[in-house]
Amino acid sequence: MADTKTVILKIKRQDTPDAKPYWEEFELMWKQGMNVTSSLMDIALNPVTRDGKKTTPITYDSNCLEEVCGSCAMLINGQARMACSALVDKLEQPIRLEPFSKFPVVRDLAVDRSVLFENLKAVKAWVPVDGTYDLGPGPRLSMEDQEAAYPLSRCISCCCCMEACPQFNESTGFVGAAAISQVRLFNTHPTGKALKRERLAALMGDGGIQECGYAQNCVEVCPKDIPLTRSISEVSGEVMKQAIGEFFRK
Ligand code: SF4
Ligand code: SF4
Ligand code: FES
Repeated sequence: MADTKTVILKIKRQDTPDAKPYWEEFELMWKQGMNVTSSLMDIALNPVTRDGKKTTPITYDSNCLEEVCGSCAMLINGQARMACSALVDKLEQPIRLEPFSKFPVVRDLAVDRSVLFENLKAVKAWVPVDGTYDLGPGPRLSMEDQEAAYPLSRCISCCCCMEACPQFNESTGFVGAAAISQVRLFNTHPTGKALKRERLAALMGDGGIQECGYAQNCVEVCPKDIPLTRSISEVSGEVMKQAIGEFFRK
């Protein structure tokens, strides 16, 4: 590929969850508008390394290809971001691709992010319904409330905020910014707030909101520009209020 424009990718691979990771380098023909996911697709069409060794296609998650499903998150040049919206022309080469470091690797760039779903269950991140019968229309949301809720509802469960957070690790068990922001969303919903006390209680104690060191890495990397630090400070105030109230009721 001496005289043609090419793209070089260095990819950290791992064959099984317990296998030792290793790196492979690929050189692809440059194409107009290519992104990291389309580069991985090109490798799948011809899985040969830069030094001519036949290898296997890279395993990675992806679905919507338009930054909506949240599945394609990985470390791109060391930064947690979405592969489908990472334009190759805007990245320094060689482009380094690695799986998230704080989640168990399934294979290559695919990781198990079920911890977020467990955390969302722990904080009851949903609007409760009482039964399967017709409950009639729910309460109306004012335009202001809709505008406040909409940015929070844009979370795509990508886990970039957790990967970038210095406090999100095994020793703290910290629930992470995404789940806290969903607490704010559901606690302000007219029906969702029925579970407000339980959600705030779930954020007290070990792994709860007090683990946040307010480093603000989360808000920097969130691909949906969710106001995470605002959510953290608002929910933190509510948790504190509830904790003090409970203390004096004892
Ligand atoms: S503010 Fe800092 S410590 Fe808190 S969730 Fe965000 S990155 Fe983590
Ligand atoms: S809050 Fe942002 S970074 Fe975190 S999971 Fe949701 S979309 Fe991803
Ligand atoms: S493939 Fe859905 S967010 Fe990238």
